[in-house]
Amino acid sequence: MDIDKVFQDQLIKITQEAAISVYPHLGKKDKIVADEAATNSMRTNLNKMNIKGNIVIGEGELDEAPMLYIGEKVGTKKGPEFDIAVDPLEGTNFVAKNLPGAISVIAISNKNDLFNAPESYMQKISYPKGIDHNAIDLDFSLKKNLSNLADSKNKKFENLRICVLDRPRHQKIIEEAKSLNINVKLISDGDVSGALLVTEEKHNVDLFIGTGGGPEGVLAASALDTYGCGFQCRFLFNSDELKKRANKMGINDFDKKYKLDEIVKGDSLFCATGITKGDLVNGLELRNNKIIANTLITHKSQNLKKIVTGELDIKK
Ligand code: FBP
Repeated sequence: MDIDKVFQDQLIKITQEAAISVYPHLGKKDKIVADEAATNSMRTNLNKMNIKGNIVIGEGELDEAPMLYIGEKVGTKKGPEFDIAVDPLEGTNFVAKNLPGAISVIAISNKNDLFNAPESYMQKISYPKGIDHNAIDLDFSLKKNLSNLADSKNKKFENLRICVLDRPRHQKIIEEAKSLNINVKLISDGDVSGALLVTEEKHNVDLFIGTGGGPEGVLAASALDTYGCGFQCRFLFNSDELKKRANKMGINDFDKKYKLDEIVKGDSLFCATGITKGDLVNGLELRNNKIIANTLITHKSQNLKKIVTGELDIKK
C-alpha cells in the first residue's frame, strides 16, 4: 500500500524542528546535549502524529537509549502502522564543531518493510541508477567495481570518483584508489549523506564504499530506492552479544549480503533537513529573525525527490 501524501509535510516538519532544536548548540563542543535536543524534539513530534509507529532504527537498544529506542512505540495509535527509522542528529561531531554536513533524518515505511537489525557496523556500497546490479559487489575488488561502473556509465575509468569515510579501516580502499589514480572524496563523518552523493550527477560521486553505521545504511537505503540507485550491504555482527541479538530478530546468516529490496520493501518516505551546510542539503540560515531550513524529501510511490525550503520561527 502506498503511504499517504499527507505524511510528506508532517515528516518535513519533524526533521525541520529537530534540526532547529540543534541550532543553539552549534559549535559548543557538546554533542551529547545537541543529540538530546534533536531526539527530544523528534520524539515529541512523532508522538503527535496519528500513526501507530514502531521505531525499528533508533538511538539504540532500550538499555542504552531512553528516547526513540529500538522497539519504542510512537504516535497517537490512531492511524496507519509504520516502521520508523530515525537519526535525529546525524553528524554529532559536525554540530559540536559547527562544521558542514550535519543533518536530521527520518524514514518511514509500512509495517515490517524496513529491515530490523541490532545496532552494528555495516559494510555498504551505493552506486547510481542504471547500473546492472550484478556489476557491483562488496566482494569485488575496487578495480573490478570501477571498471564495471565505467562500462555501464560510459565514462572514462580515470574520471570516476569514489566517496569513503576517512577511517584507518579504509586504508586499503584509499591505497587502491591511489594506485588506480582515482579521486577520492574523503568524509570525516556523515555517511547517510555520503551514500546519497551517488544520487545526482551534480555531486560528482560514482561510488560510495566502506564500513559505517548500520542504522545510517538503512536510512540511506530508503532514499536510494526512490532515486532508483543501487545499494548492497553486510552487517558486521562482530561480538557474541550482537549475534545473540541478531538471532533473536530472526537473522541466522551473519555474513549475508543484502540487496536494497531486502532492506527497504514497498513504499517509503525519507526526509533529511540540513543543520550545517552540506553537500546534500544546505544548512540552517538565520534571516530576518526567522530560520530558513532546507529538506531533501523522497517518496517512492510518488517518485518524489526534491528539496523543500521552509521559513520557521526560532524557538527559545
Ligand atoms: P554520529 O552522528 O552518531 O556521531 O555518527 C556519525 C557517523 O560518521 C555516521 O555517519 C557513520 O555511519 C558513523 O559515524 C561511523 O562510525 P565511526 O565514527 O565509529 O567510524
